[in-house]
Amino acid sequence: MKADLRMESIQVLRSVSALREFVALQRGKGLRVGLVPTMGALHEGHLTLVREGFGHADVMIATIFVNPTQFAPTEDFAAYPRTQEDDIRKLSQTGAQAVFCPDASEMYPQGFSTSVSVKGVSEPLEGESRPHFFGGVATVVTKLLLQALPDVALFGEKDYQQLQVIKRLVIDLDIPVKIIGVATVRDRDGLALSSRNAYLTQEQMKSAAVLNRVLFDMADQIRDGGDLGAIRQAGMERIMAAGFDSIDYLEIRDASTLMPVDGRNNALRILVAAKIGKTRLIDNVAA
Ligand code: PAJ
Repeated sequence: MKADLRMESIQVLRSVSALREFVALQRGKGLRVGLVPTMGALHEGHLTLVREGFGHADVMIATIFVNPTQFAPTEDFAAYPRTQEDDIRKLSQTGAQAVFCPDASEMYPQGFSTSVSVKGVSEPLEGESRPHFFGGVATVVTKLLLQALPDVALFGEKDYQQLQVIKRLVIDLDIPVKIIGVATVRDRDGLALSSRNAYLTQEQMKSAAVLNRVLFDMADQIRDGGDLGAIRQAGMERIMAAGFDSIDYLEIRDASTLMPVDGRNNALRILVAAKIGKTRLIDNVAA
C-alpha cells in the first residue's frame, strides 16, 4: 500500500500498515529510523525532539494522536488543541520524513481489551494526582513503538516521570528501541513550553513563569546544603504567592526511582504540578 498522502516532502501515514511499509522501505536502504510520539499542537519543544533525533537516526517519523485513554472524563480531551495541518507543516520544516496520524479506531479497534501497566515509578506524583494517566500513556506508547519498531525514540524531560515510565516498560517488555531523553525547552522567561500554555491568560503567564524560577532556586539551595524540608516548604509558599491556585505536589525525589530520599547520595530531581485557574502545569529540574 502507498502512503496515503504527500505534503511537501513529508509523508502523512494514517494506517499502521502504511507506517510499517514506510519503515521497511527505510530499513531496506540501510537507514536508521527515529520516532517522536506526540499529541500534536506542536511547539518548539516537540520540534526540538525531532531535530535531536537526526543526531541518532537518518529518518525521523513523528506521530500525532490525542490519546483518549490518558485523559480522565473530567480532563481536557475534547478541548485539547488540534492543529493537524499546521503541525504537519512545522514537521516538514524540520526535515522529518513522515508523520503518523492514526484515528482512534486505528489505535483502538473494536473489542480492544489490553493495557500496559507499569508499577513502581508510575505510582507517585502524577500517578497519585492522575491515576488513569500512566496506564493510557504506557499502552499507547507500547503500541506506537511496536507499530513502528524504530531504532530510537525520543521523549522530553518536560514529562520527566513519563520518560522514566517509558524507559522501564521498554526494558521490561524487551522492546528493541533505544529511548533518548531530551532537555526541556523553555521560553524566554524559563517557562517550559507546553501545549497547555495556550490556555493561559497574559496575567496567568506571568505567574506561570515563576514556577521554573522557584525550581531552579530550590536546586541551588539544595546544592548549597540546605535542609530539604525547609527548601520544599519555602518553594510551596513562593508558588502560592505567585498566584497559583493549588499545588498537586512539589517534591524532591530520587532522580531515577522518583521515591523519597533520606540522604543526598542519590541524584535528585525536583518535580512540581500546580494549577492556575483551570490549567495544570508541570515542571521539573535536576538538583
Ligand atoms: P505531548 O504532550 O504532545 O508531548 C510529546 C513529547 O514532547 C513528549 O515526549 C514530551 O515530553 C515532549 N515535550 C513536550 N514539551 C516539551 C518541552 N517544553 N521540551 C522538551 N520536550 C517537550 O507526552 C505526550 O504528548 C503523550 O503522553 C505521548 C507520549 C505522546 C503519549 O500519548
